[in-house]
Amino acid sequence: MQLRICPDLEALSRAAAQNFAARARAAIQTTGGFPVALAGGSTPRATYKLLAEDYRYSLDWSRIHIFFGDERCVPPDHPGSNYRMAYETLISHVAVGSIHRMRGELPPEEAAAAYETELRDFFGNTPRFSLILLGLGEDGHTASLFPHTSALDVQDRWVAANPVPQLRTTRLTLTLPAINAASAVMFLVSGASKASALSEVLEGDSNPHEYPAKLVRPAKGEVIWLTDRAAAPASPL
Ligand code: 6PG
Repeated sequence: MQLRICPDLEALSRAAAQNFAARARAAIQTTGGFPVALAGGSTPRATYKLLAEDYRYSLDWSRIHIFFGDERCVPPDHPGSNYRMAYETLISHVAVGSIHRMRGELPPEEAAAAYETELRDFFGNTPRFSLILLGLGEDGHTASLFPHTSALDVQDRWVAANPVPQLRTTRLTLTLPAINAASAVMFLVSGASKASALSEVLEGDSNPHEYPAKLVRPAKGEVIWLTDRAAAPASPL
């Protein structure tokens, strides 16, 4: 596990874009393609904008395949859609090889089953993402794996429709078997509001179902934590 503490969100975003680009080049060179799952929320916005602006001509975007770690059960043009955020900041600016959107406009179980099929068609037996970007919620959730929700226990599927009572909604999310099959996972964590959750995830001994990000442990992959000083633990590891 790597922890990199950046001065602020701007520096964190630059580091994230740099890391994304380096991994993309390496994956394209070794395997011919870079399947990456994007995170939703607000933290990654600046990273996606940097990728669209500063790396627009220095990456072979035609070899980059865009997936999503989770999605709200809303249409793609909804203000809360993770796809819409990624489309506005990145996808509409570069010609990627393929886009694999979680179809939030469908009934959740149908959308989850459809995405499961799409992943299996693309990856075969193992969803070996080159990189999965993740955020961290103040409650320790990541993707849409929220504390004490049923998706945390899913072992036989890569995608789940996850009822989230805390939000009185259902979310679509990659499950832990899918996330933990990745070559690399990169968390982007910014702001003082995340400090407590980050400290607990990195150093605490609480029940992982309280802080689901603790369950992200790729069996054959790297975990990179990119955080800013406001979110960083008082005594970095
Ligand atoms: C979502 C994300 C979610 C997010 C965290 C952090 O759909 O909202 O997948 O897991 O990464 O909630 O969100 P912020 O980056 O907005 O703090």
